[in-house]
Amino acid sequence: MKVNVIGAGYVGLVSGLVLASIGHKVRVLDIDQDKIRSINNKQLPFYEKGLRKILVKSINDKCFSAYEFKVENFGDPEIILICVGTPTVNKKISLTNIYNVGRVIGKWLKYYNSFCSIVIKSTVLSGTTDTIFKKIIEDNSTFKHKNGDFGLGMNPEFLREGNAVYDCINPDRIIIGYEDIKTKNRLTRLYQHFNCKKIYTNSRTAEMSKYVNNTLLALQISAINELSKISNNLTHINFSKIIEIVNNDHRWSNCKNKNSTSILDYLIPGPGFGGSCFPKDLMALSSQSLELNVKPHVLNAIIETNDKQPEYCIELLLKKMSKSKSTKNILFLGVTFKPETNDIRESTSIKMIDYAIKLGCLVKFHDPFLNKFNVDDLGKNLHLGFVNDWESKVNWADAIVIATTHKEYKKLSNLQINKNTIIFDPRSYLNRNNISSQPNYLSLG
Ligand SMILES: NC(=O)c1ccc[n+]([C@@H]2O[C@H](COP(=O)([O-])OP(=O)(O)OC[C@H]3O[C@@H](n4cnc5c(N)ncnc54)[C@H](O)[C@@H]3O)[C@@H](O)[C@H]2O)c1
Repeated sequence: MKVNVIGAGYVGLVSGLVLASIGHKVRVLDIDQDKIRSINNKQLPFYEKGLRKILVKSINDKCFSAYEFKVENFGDPEIILICVGTPTVNKKISLTNIYNVGRVIGKWLKYYNSFCSIVIKSTVLSGTTDTIFKKIIEDNSTFKHKNGDFGLGMNPEFLREGNAVYDCINPDRIIIGYEDIKTKNRLTRLYQHFNCKKIYTNSRTAEMSKYVNNTLLALQISAINELSKISNNLTHINFSKIIEIVNNDHRWSNCKNKNSTSILDYLIPGPGFGGSCFPKDLMALSSQSLELNVKPHVLNAIIETNDKQPEYCIELLLKKMSKSKSTKNILFLGVTFKPETNDIRESTSIKMIDYAIKLGCLVKFHDPFLNKFNVDDLGKNLHLGFVNDWESKVNWADAIVIATTHKEYKKLSNLQINKNTIIFDPRSYLNRNNISSQPNYLSLG
């Protein structure tokens, strides 16, 4: 099928390339001309495992190309998948990008003589596709959805950065939210080679399903963080034993899949959740809930617990550090919001670094996935603390924090580290046994 993907970010580029790799003819369109240029030069604008190989092959096979987002570059798609960002502005979801796209699609439709299904893949609040988005397209085209002039759908994306290619090729389920039968059929055809369950519903249910999914995952993280904090304030509690006990309740352990992430992986204490999805999606749903006069007690508690967690981690560390030393040198290992990505959006590692600096600590940090461009992006003079060779700074540090669980930090267990140096492992990444010679190991669990 001929598919246009609007937005060449994590969702758009990965989805577009995976669709091209299974035989569709894909155009990705973006307003960012640098991104377009780099993609057409077979260079990825961000790191994602396995993606470059698909990019090179798809461009060589002439089934994928990138264009500037302009009416004249639309070609003749049967489906348009909208994957633009939906960030938070003033604690609410900003749909500016979605509206701008709707306007341009409306203008393009005026000149296009065939039926096209327009499908939102970005995360948007329930009621966006079938109301305001439809109206924008209609107002800019004079065509009507109810007359069958164009199709509308909503197809939320569940990929995880760091595993995006795998998740996109092997989705757990595909949600086909549709507002007309032609769009239902086109989306079914688009995804016919995927073996997973297809769940058919209306666009509002599809939109809400993404928020419910993310909220329930974030809930586990905030709940376990609060419970570990309570336990930390009592004595003689081994929280990792508690997790082992909970994990062996068959109602949880039945969810365990040896080969992939399970819900149990969300039941590990840590510095909280970050990234471009959970924080913004919970905030968006909370403000929609308030507008509906439904008090979002649980949502707000998840957000509040999460917001405080990076500070809590640093306070815990400082309590353990020597009071006699006036300046405290802290080496942070990892800056990105999770391993296997160079995405730093809402990274809890950055929040911990910021807070440590605010409290007067001297900070250095490292991340194998950050290049100079990303580091400069950190702003606030933060880039000054970046080090390329973390191993050479181990003896400079009074404390070493494993902030992001990049594989290379496992090496820490084998290094000769001063006995007084604290190793703070808020995500319990290092196997305790491997560093038993280190008396100053600190974790949350
Ligand atoms: N990143 C994830 O892991 C993930 C997972 C599932 C769902 N989502 C959702 O998918 C959406 C996209 O997320 P992302 O992480 O890919 O965002 P991103 O910021 O990585 O990419 C968005 C892209 O859209 C482009 N864009 C913005 N306005 C545009 C316009 N008017 N026309 C054309 N291009 C435009 C930007 O230049 C950018 O390249 C969001 O709603 C997000 O919540 C993200």
